[in-house]
Amino acid sequence: MPKNHLKIPSANQPQISDVVVTAVAFGGKGVGRVDGKVFFIADAIPGDTVDIEITADSGRYADAKILRLTNPSPLRGTSPCQFSDRCGGCQWQGIPYEQQLAWKRQFVETALGRIGRVEAAVPVAISGSPGTLGYRNRIFVRGVFAADGGVTFGYFRRGSRDLVPIDRCAIAGGTINQILNHLGSVRFSRPEALRAVTPYRMEIQEISAQLGLLGTGQDPQVIITVYPPSPDCRDLDAFVDGLRATPGVFWVGLIRDLKAAPLILFEQDPGPNGLRYHTRPGQFQQVNVAHNRIVRSLVHELVEGYKPARVLDLFCGSGNLSLGLARSDRYVEGSEFSEAAIATARENVRINKITNALYLAGSSEKHLWKCAKKGEQFDVVIADPPREGMFKDLIPLQKIGAKAIIYVSCDPATMARDLGALIRGGYQLKFVRAFDFFPNTWHVETVSVLEKVV
Ligand SMILES: C[S@@+](CC[C@H](N)C(=O)[O-])C[C@H]1O[C@@H](n2cnc3c(N)ncnc32)[C@H](O)[C@@H]1O
Repeated sequence: MPKNHLKIPSANQPQISDVVVTAVAFGGKGVGRVDGKVFFIADAIPGDTVDIEITADSGRYADAKILRLTNPSPLRGTSPCQFSDRCGGCQWQGIPYEQQLAWKRQFVETALGRIGRVEAAVPVAISGSPGTLGYRNRIFVRGVFAADGGVTFGYFRRGSRDLVPIDRCAIAGGTINQILNHLGSVRFSRPEALRAVTPYRMEIQEISAQLGLLGTGQDPQVIITVYPPSPDCRDLDAFVDGLRATPGVFWVGLIRDLKAAPLILFEQDPGPNGLRYHTRPGQFQQVNVAHNRIVRSLVHELVEGYKPARVLDLFCGSGNLSLGLARSDRYVEGSEFSEAAIATARENVRINKITNALYLAGSSEKHLWKCAKKGEQFDVVIADPPREGMFKDLIPLQKIGAKAIIYVSCDPATMARDLGALIRGGYQLKFVRAFDFFPNTWHVETVSVLEKVV
């Protein structure tokens, strides 16, 4: 076993040899200790021995990058993706899936204990994704044009603006890869104009065939949203026209075209009367559809357990988690910042002929205060906040009398902070389950249930 020792550091870029990585921290960095100091090492995993260079030093701990992987961890297997070592996307390709799940479960447990100061009274389980490759229904890529009008697509190398060319992405859906591959051989017109605006950003999103809109088509298709460097830039118009003529592209537009973008069916619950979920280009939508279905049905099962008459869905997006909960004897109210998402939620209500649901645009915190001031009561609250977590003021939550809160999180640290506060505010943690929406990366989602202590 190599012994950790400090090398004489150079003035600007201190380097340390033979650091043994013993753990992984949330955010995906490997953790190594040298003389009591903790190093968070990008791209390192437990079992690695590495020579590192410090990139940021905060005294008792420092960030570092690998200079040399002197002894790779036995957990490092062969990556199914030829770009994963440099594209900035998946840090954990090639690592056994069970190990990835174990680390993610540990992130949640550690955050609950250290940040939330939540007693380990509730065991944390984790559910793996139905698929570990090809699971993303949308990706953001960058493109650069060549003099002949050909395009090279790629991702930025982590922490840089260097383009790593790709012709496929192992975690993207099959149709996305077909389109990417095809576009690599297309020559677009007006290359002189196009070269001026690179590298530009573009979102490719896979959708199921739009039955009824395209006649008999059964094959999935894509929608493409192109983000020019400025809203009035016309340089990408010719590129967009070229994309429009590409087989398999259902809709393509620039961000300024989003207002005129069509409503798109992206998912349907099983059965002839299954709920139909719609979206519009540019709107938030869960990227792992199969896993989202599992989480949504768990949330429904948990909510049903409380037999609520009134459910409040905070940070509701276009109604993903709550549309299916509305019934003649149960009222659902949703609140969400994005007016566009709320417009789609309302279209989902109309198309599915849902009668007892109301979706309102605005800050969820303000909405909750309004409900509290009006004396409105809700039996169950669903909260699915962004990475920053929920708001700090819990008084309105207490005032609306929620018996249970179903907290859905994409960040264990802010979740642990919020759960800790809710527990100290009179709720009891009853259930925690982590979900892997993003295999081969360090990201983890969690569903928790808090019950009001009576
Ligand atoms: C993680 S997404 C969840 C969306 C939805 N529950 C779903 O499953 O598709 C978080 C949502 O919160 C919204 N949001 C962010 N900050 C907000 C705030 N302060 N008030 C209301 N909504 C907010 C975002 O626009 C986004 O749609």
